[in-house]
Amino acid sequence: ASGAGRRGPRIGFTPVPTSSADALTVPEEYTAQVLIPWGTPLFAGTEWQKDASNTAADQEKQVGFNHDGIFYYPLEDGAAGSRHGLLVLNHEYTDANQIYTAEQGSAITPDAAGREKVAKALAGHGVTVVEVSQNADGTWSEVIDSPYNRRITGVTPVQFTGPVTLDHPALASRNAPMGTLNNCGSGPTPWGTYLTCEENWNGYFGTADTTWAPTASQRRYGVSAAGFGYSWHVAEPRFDVALNPNELHRFGWIVEIDPMDPHSKPMKRTALGRIKHESAAVTESRGKAVVYSGDDENLDYAYKFVSARPWKEARARGLSPLDEGTLYVAKFEADGTGTWLPLVHGVGPLTAANGFADQADVLIRTREAADAVGATPMHRPEWISVDELTSEVYLTLTNGSGYTQGRGATEPNPAVNSERNPNPYGHVLKWREKDRDHTALTFEWDIFVLAGDPVYDEKANGLTGDNIFGSPDGIWLDPDGRLWIQTDISNSSQNLASRGYDNIGNNQMLVANPRTREIRRFLVGPRGCEITGVHTTPDQRTMFVNVQHPGESTTHWNTQFGTPSTTNPRTVSNWPQFDPAGRPRSATVVIRRKDGGVIGS
Ligand code: FEO
Ligand code: CA
Ligand code: CA
Ligand code: CA
Repeated sequence: ASGAGRRGPRIGFTPVPTSSADALTVPEEYTAQVLIPWGTPLFAGTEWQKDASNTAADQEKQVGFNHDGIFYYPLEDGAAGSRHGLLVLNHEYTDANQIYTAEQGSAITPDAAGREKVAKALAGHGVTVVEVSQNADGTWSEVIDSPYNRRITGVTPVQFTGPVTLDHPALASRNAPMGTLNNCGSGPTPWGTYLTCEENWNGYFGTADTTWAPTASQRRYGVSAAGFGYSWHVAEPRFDVALNPNELHRFGWIVEIDPMDPHSKPMKRTALGRIKHESAAVTESRGKAVVYSGDDENLDYAYKFVSARPWKEARARGLSPLDEGTLYVAKFEADGTGTWLPLVHGVGPLTAANGFADQADVLIRTREAADAVGATPMHRPEWISVDELTSEVYLTLTNGSGYTQGRGATEPNPAVNSERNPNPYGHVLKWREKDRDHTALTFEWDIFVLAGDPVYDEKANGLTGDNIFGSPDGIWLDPDGRLWIQTDISNSSQNLASRGYDNIGNNQMLVANPRTREIRRFLVGPRGCEITGVHTTPDQRTMFVNVQHPGESTTHWNTQFGTPSTTNPRTVSNWPQFDPAGRPRSATVVIRRKDGGVIGS
């Protein structure tokens, strides 16, 4: 049933221009307030130290680093629920140039000092649950020492449920099961919990063992001796791929957290597969829970999980709706149709004869199973969101470095239909399941918008100075059907003419009308950041948006203050406090309309 009018949701604000300034900009009729920046104490006695001298133990009791997916959970019924609730947010990764003092430096050494530094980094990862409330003047504050306040980090005890359990030999690691890492996007469930995604977990692992070489399966997941340069393995054998390879199999999952129960264990829901999960968009059809998720890698895939039974029935029996069901991967056809291919052991090529031992093996090696069934490679599938008014599904494809040897030379990558190869600006795809039923096995798709700057790419011909953007990433349909689009232009492209990104400015958030395809720019972030994660209170009069990694490419924070050292001077930031002796800090931004109205309308 469609509750939206023919013209779609009202979009009524003054658009903001592009900007390369180190500032956060919202429409003139709105206000923006910085809340819970990195290091904010959740408990008394762990005050933020601007020289980054807080210890690992402090960081375990403070808001984590690099805010990402975020959702608001009301703590009261009715109108009061829009003034008092919990914010639950992800912390994707830490930056060794920012989280240690000048004296400590960024290098990890094989001693107690190195172990403390790894412990601080692990404590900066994961999830924050924090109670928040609105003040009489309309601003919002965190509630220190709330019994709900909680950090889930890289060392929090976790449980594995579904077809892959801890007694599986591939999960037999030298340490206890703990931690969630690289928590990127997230999604709320209809039963009140929070799903957090493990994305680029491969980057934390490495080894100094020169005799080690990755297996084919490890290579498919991007595991390498160098990792992404974190070097945690230097101090912690847990992250040494030669010594402790099965620790890899404990990451890449969707993890369920109950924010209302601060003593609950995070549950890794293995039936949803092991990839680089970008986000988890939960919806329902026929009472069954459906979870859409993208695998953010160039030429990887889009997935959905359908629960075996109606979620209310599963919950009534004391079961998780996410433990029994079928995982599918998407195949797109050039004629605008598509099919969901099941990743079920014994079906099609997923047999013992082809090297898949059982369903647990299919799930541990989800990417290889999806390769085997012939899924469609895409240009970095990021967030997915469902328009509950029309049942249409939106997916951001952030950008693509093109196709090789035929892989990716297929729809729906615009490399094919517009010769845009590589695809530096990305696009937003949308599809409708057959009969608008999310459990259906066929769908129809089209490209909602090709991002870009028409000065450099005439294919981005729907966009103008008022709404050019590139590298869409976060996406969210609000309850009125407004499509919020957030961008993540990398720091190697941001504001640079050589990359075709000089006119687009800093990363931003726009809002689209899905019916008319009108797009307006709502917010521009500070330099070097990405904008990621957005939600509102139920009355839609307060919006929460995350600013991640301002000033990321700046490397002087732990060496000397003064001349910034960076590969791209147009990304240097010290937002939001601009204290020369302080650090840039990722933060949640609280946005309200000066007249108290619905955000975006
Ligand atoms: Fe964490 Fe793909 O962004
Ligand atoms: Ca990010
Ligand atoms: Ca992202
Ligand atoms: Ca991204």
